[in-house]
Amino acid sequence: MMSIYSKIQALSKSVEDFNIKNKEDLESFRLQYVSRKGPLMTLFACMKTVAVAEKKKVGALLNTLKSSAQKKFSEAKNILYTPSSPHEVIADYTLPVADDLGACHPLSIITEKMVQVLQNIGFNLAEGPEIDTDWYNFTALNFPPQHPARDMQDTFFLSKDFLLRTHTSSVQIRMMEKNQLPLRIITPGRVFRKEAISARTHCMFHQMEALYVAKEVNFLQLKATLLYFVQNMFGSQTKMRLRPSYFPFTEPSAELDIACQVCLGKGCALCKNTGWVEIGGAGLVDPQVLLHCKIDPQKYRGFAFGMGIERIAMLLYRIDDIRLFTENDLQFLKQFKHVSF
Ligand code: DAH
Repeated sequence: MMSIYSKIQALSKSVEDFNIKNKEDLESFRLQYVSRKGPLMTLFACMKTVAVAEKKKVGALLNTLKSSAQKKFSEAKNILYTPSSPHEVIADYTLPVADDLGACHPLSIITEKMVQVLQNIGFNLAEGPEIDTDWYNFTALNFPPQHPARDMQDTFFLSKDFLLRTHTSSVQIRMMEKNQLPLRIITPGRVFRKEAISARTHCMFHQMEALYVAKEVNFLQLKATLLYFVQNMFGSQTKMRLRPSYFPFTEPSAELDIACQVCLGKGCALCKNTGWVEIGGAGLVDPQVLLHCKIDPQKYRGFAFGMGIERIAMLLYRIDDIRLFTENDLQFLKQFKHVSF
């Protein structure tokens, strides 16, 4: 068994060797050598068993050790807790927080702007579920079962009956089923496709759909609404064009391009030298879709358009990799700290 003398000696050495570098070190030093529960106090308790002749000597050694531990503790505490100049305040919890607040995600900023622009001309916010049925995502939108148009959107099926929505067009149907006409809605939301993740494609992204159903609706109104939207998002001089296209739920259908923001239409890598970049799809609601929602196509018509929110954000902020939106890289996110529309 170690004699009490060697125990005192070992403890003195560890007190001496303990390097107090910061406040955490100081606290663990306190717990070990200053508090009432540490090994030093255990040695004091051993005094009971020390022979009477030795008691004085051992007591003196223990007291010296105790005061040197206490001295070391208060010296370190003074250094760590004393302001280095009289003006320096260690912590004032009443001060407002420093300039390190959170920031809005770029997608939130752009979504908010898109919503604002369309709310200004009477569109109302609507939403629908991310897990949906074949009916809302496909069949009601005039994608008949087995129709090849379903291959345009690679789908995550959750079961025979449920899938992850591949577009926000599914919300159109729910809104037409439930609401009175006329109807003007916008539906920003998350969508999913079974795509490999790369700089340009992702399996999860966001879209915003707009739908207008009323007695008098025509293609000119659609075009004017799109121009209003494009110029409010990208600048009042921005040119746009519509290209004939195909979507099962619109007839006629078009793809919406805007003049390339990088080369302003001259031709560059981003627009593959065409001067134009595609931002979404649009068209007049197919009468069959209205019928699926029990709306009489003889009395009512509609227009719709839909676009990817990431795509708009990438064009506006010149972001060249869609993966950045979901990586939570602070270096990336902090760039949007002071951005507001
Ligand atoms: N839902 C289509 C897609 O995800 C985009 C779209 C095209 C929406 C035309 C529309 C539309 O409302 O009219 O590819």
